[in-house]
Amino acid sequence: MIIEPRTVAPGVVLRLVTPDDAADLARAYSANRDHLRPWEPRRPPEFFTAEGQAARLAELTELRREGRTVPWVLDDEREGIVGVVNLSNIVRGAFGSGSLGYWVAADRAGRGLATAAVTAVCRAAGDELGMHRVEAGTVTVNVASQRVLAKCGFERIGTARKYLHIDGAWRDHYLFQRILHDREPH
Ligand SMILES: CC(C)(COP(=O)(O)OP(=O)(O)OC[C@H]1O[C@@H](n2cnc3c(N)ncnc32)[C@H](O)[C@@H]1OP(=O)(O)O)[C@@H](O)C(=O)NCCC(=O)NCCS
Repeated sequence: MIIEPRTVAPGVVLRLVTPDDAADLARAYSANRDHLRPWEPRRPPEFFTAEGQAARLAELTELRREGRTVPWVLDDEREGIVGVVNLSNIVRGAFGSGSLGYWVAADRAGRGLATAAVTAVCRAAGDELGMHRVEAGTVTVNVASQRVLAKCGFERIGTARKYLHIDGAWRDHYLFQRILHDREPH
């Protein structure tokens, strides 16, 4: 399935990641290392290199081919990649669901970029991918991310103790979902 790029802010396009993004992703992850550290798994040193990102993108391309992940980037016309949105763990049939993960560069925070990107990905998930539901989890203290999800129409559905290994420890998370449509699964 072809998913077209879409403009989510002046000069910023949400588009599918490509293998050519490896070097720019390494730059963006390096520039935002401290910003992302409290909210992400521990990353090995090679994660911050073009070679490491190229290996990661090869895995993502395979997952995309299998229909299990749809990986996007936020691409600024002047600065390059300023954020990432991933729809992963996609399951079809009676579940019709996927998990959302995202980040926006520290120097772009607070301008509605994550809200616009999550809204656009939810629209693509419902209208183009035919999914029923999107879920997301945030560390309980990640108030900014919880605010993004609330603005995008997600409801909090529970708390999962020690849900993910984030920044070196198993962290409690709030879980959220957004129902996209009630059509029959296909
Ligand atoms: C969370 C994150 C994606 C938000 O991106 P963003 O582009 O700044 O988000 P938006 O501008 O669309 O919305 C942020 C909202 O959170 C609010 N907010 C930000 N920091 C906050 C805080 N400490 N307490 C309360 N609200 C906060 C903002 O005011 C805004 O809400 P508003 O529009 O009602 O004023 C970004 O900060 C980020 O990448 N953080 C690190 C990685 C991360 O946490 N990813 C999500 C993992 S679940």
